[in-house]
Amino acid sequence: MRRHWHKKPLLIRQAFPGFSPVLSRSELFALASREEVESRLIARHAPGQPHWRVQHGPFARRDLPRLSTPDWTLLVQGVDLHHDAAHELLQQFRFIPDARLDDLMISFATEGGGVGPHYDSYDVFLLQAQGQRRWRLAKKFDPTLRADTAVKILANFEPEQEFVLAPGDMLYLPQHYAHDGVAEGGECMTYSIGFRSPARAELAQELLTRLGDEAAQSFDAQRYRDPKQEAVQQPAAIPHALQDFAQQAIQAALRDPQALARALGELLSEPKPNVWFESAPKPSLRGAIKLDRRTRMLYDDRHIFINGESFRAGGRDARLMHELADRRSLPASKRAQLSPEALDLLGQWLAAGWLHSAR
Ligand code: SIN
Ligand code: CO
Repeated sequence: MRRHWHKKPLLIRQAFPGFSPVLSRSELFALASREEVESRLIARHAPGQPHWRVQHGPFARRDLPRLSTPDWTLLVQGVDLHHDAAHELLQQFRFIPDARLDDLMISFATEGGGVGPHYDSYDVFLLQAQGQRRWRLAKKFDPTLRADTAVKILANFEPEQEFVLAPGDMLYLPQHYAHDGVAEGGECMTYSIGFRSPARAELAQELLTRLGDEAAQSFDAQRYRDPKQEAVQQPAAIPHALQDFAQQAIQAALRDPQALARALGELLSEPKPNVWFESAPKPSLRGAIKLDRRTRMLYDDRHIFINGESFRAGGRDARLMHELADRRSLPASKRAQLSPEALDLLGQWLAAGWLHSAR
């Protein structure tokens, strides 16, 4: 992290020695056929089409080009949400805070397939899962994009470095580093471990909306009063006292320092769109408990956040809930130490399908 994170690429040969893919090509194609799974197909040299063409899923098997056709790639986003082994693999990347970890994307490509030279706004780990891929990289690049395609492809990419990755090899790339990965020697699968980095303006918009909703529900019934208002010559001018009142209203909405922390935790722990939990009909808390792979659980100094909801916690309950969030599981012996209120919450989360009895 000190030497490379946000600074420079890192190639790790055999980061995962003897690695084999966590799901097969046909399992990946099956995911790409599902409505709730985000997928894209990018083909080069499509006859009579622009040089690069992108289509959005879902894709039935017959919508995909033949395996013998070169130069195409299928990208499936958020595989960790739908597949246990993919979720387990993502756990290896929890040396980065969960609030920053995004998802596991899997790409399948035939010979020559790739998404073209581009750069991303996020850091990424590119783990080679099957076959070989040649990566060409450039720190300095001309950001001009090709005009003939909807795919964001650099028009004048000039590689500075290149590596061929075999299964188990992994390449870390900082954001804004130009790269081009091309399948070489046949079928190729690459796993991208991606990160989320909220844009400041978008974060402000989200948080202010949430704080605004909270203010609307507060008991603050204070209204603007102007007992000293004099008769005016310029009726269209906004009174300064009203401007001050507006300032105070905003300050009042932000006065509780925990409100912002709460809004942030709720936002960051919000499940991904398209995530639905299956509620358990007759749940019983037995043995160890384990978070569902789609559950997002985070905490700060005073709160526990789970799937967009917040709870205040202190003392032993907080320590045990932190352990559950960090390990994504809690042994039966520790669960038994929770207070009746905390156990009641666990029961509700179990019923909602947010966690399961592991046994
Ligand atoms: C790929 O796996 O082909 C694309 C990954 C990337 O370049 O970000
Ligand atoms: Co990329």
